[in-house]
Amino acid sequence: MDRRFKLDSLLSVDIKKERLSGEAARESCMVAASILSKSFSSQLGPKGLFKLLAEEARPLFISRDAHSLMTGLMLEHPAAKLMVELVNAQDGEVGDGNTSTVIVAGELISRARKLIEEGLNPVTIVEGYRMAAERAEEILNELAVPIMKNDLPAIVNTSLKDYRSDRLSAQIIEVVTRIKEQYGEADTERIAVHAIEGGSLDDSFVVNGATLFGWALPSSRKRVENAKIAILEKPLEIGVSDALSGMRIKDSKELSRCFKEEEELLRSMVNRILHAGANVVVSMGSIDVRAQGMLTHEGVFITHHYPEYNDLRHLARATGAKLVNDILSITSDDLGEAELVEERRIAEEEIIIFDGCKHGSATLIIRGGSKQLADEHKRIVYTAIAGLARTLEDMRALPGGGAIEVELAKRLRAWATRLESKKQLAVEAFADALEAIPRALATNAGLDQIEILTELRRLHKKTPSMGLYVTEDGTKIDDTLEKGVIDPFVVKRQMIHGAVEAAELIILVDGILQDKTREEKLEESQAIERIAEDDEEELPA
Ligand SMILES: Nc1ncnc2c1ncn2[C@@H]1O[C@H](COP(=O)(O)OP(=O)(O)OP(=O)(O)O)[C@@H](O)[C@H]1O
Ligand SMILES: [Mg+2]
Repeated sequence: MDRRFKLDSLLSVDIKKERLSGEAARESCMVAASILSKSFSSQLGPKGLFKLLAEEARPLFISRDAHSLMTGLMLEHPAAKLMVELVNAQDGEVGDGNTSTVIVAGELISRARKLIEEGLNPVTIVEGYRMAAERAEEILNELAVPIMKNDLPAIVNTSLKDYRSDRLSAQIIEVVTRIKEQYGEADTERIAVHAIEGGSLDDSFVVNGATLFGWALPSSRKRVENAKIAILEKPLEIGVSDALSGMRIKDSKELSRCFKEEEELLRSMVNRILHAGANVVVSMGSIDVRAQGMLTHEGVFITHHYPEYNDLRHLARATGAKLVNDILSITSDDLGEAELVEERRIAEEEIIIFDGCKHGSATLIIRGGSKQLADEHKRIVYTAIAGLARTLEDMRALPGGGAIEVELAKRLRAWATRLESKKQLAVEAFADALEAIPRALATNAGLDQIEILTELRRLHKKTPSMGLYVTEDGTKIDDTLEKGVIDPFVVKRQMIHGAVEAAELIILVDGILQDKTREEKLEESQAIERIAEDDEEELPA
């Protein structure tokens, strides 16, 4: 059957009104999960293809990133939704390896389906899969190679796939390692990645601090060195109600007295800010024009009406500033610091850069020729950042390009011979499922997956790191450890755990009990009301 049709059927599957149980429910879930996962195999690796998401009510979206695609799809089948939860969990856990996890999970599920058809009990299969996963983790531990600082570019470049670039990987390493040094851990929440349309990936740059998308007030300074930054959560203005509340203005004298009082209050707020030592003011709300004048007169850099709370929180973390709620009680302790604050124009975008911050936060500005491309670059960079951050905690790697999956499959098959026959079948199915990774990498590189897999299996009799090596000049089989195609240990371990967990959940489904949707419930109650009204009308007078 045409795969496109099959994915369509999954997206609009009409099981809402059905309540399936037993085999029918399991079958429905297994088919849905396998279809979903199969549709992701074409995007794996450096030669993976893009998917275009054209859901209604969403901007057009093009990507190869499993997490973004799955969370962008409006899936209806509960099993498909479950797979999305899995990808979300995986993304939160490691941030890379999502596509591989989905592929392996789907393979585990479709192979389990065959085993069930052959008469194996789902519980036995799940037990076999769990045993295989435990053994696989032991093998991964045996095969993991310790890495040093100078191996990090290879880890990052493998994660960047066909966007591999020494410049970009150096920028990513600089950012993540600096956060670790300054903050004590490589907390990815302290790294902001922003996409700016225009230019190429090579024009991307690092800001040792934070950036805001906005501009300085035209009348204020555009550049401040040794900045002391005040971030205001509340507007720097006096609401009409504050000044005039409960007051009945009788004549113009009273009105001007009232304005004077307002101005004095504004002056005292401005004085507090200046007294605290701020020379940069960032405000979430607006700043009264009179206060603007007072501040710019003192050479303060001002930006106001900044609505993005997350950006301000990142700015506060980067600079060490506190978000100020009560302006009249601001002190020097509330201010953040940056070596340089500057308004800059990048392509069509005005941004304010807070550079030279010392509190362990950084920003990567990622460029791309179009909005879609810049956003996709941002996603892939973020994935590489997340993978690297976890690698710094573990400093172990495994051969990439499908090498580790072929080796795991080989060793698991050998180990399975010691098990009783039914579990053996499940462990062998597990081994076959892992080989979906080299098969997908080969197919995506335009090679014959069967030929490649046969050759890899032959080479693995001697060398466990033989895998696919994709370069601009073509794809060949090589020693991936030597060639620097290496994946973090944590990513591969999570792939095994995540895939088994998802497969288990779906294989053990024994019923789909979907509650009616809110609309259906409403329709139903309206129908009941209509019947009751009709009945009343029909009653004899
Ligand atoms: N130059 C290369 N040659 C061969 N294989 C590569 C190369 N670069 C990366 N790979 C392999 O590609 C796979 C990763 O592909 P990809 O990044 O598309 O998926 P993922 O990491 O599983 O999921 P995601 O990045 O979407 O979270 C890994 O198996 C990795 O070893
Ligand atoms: Mg990846």
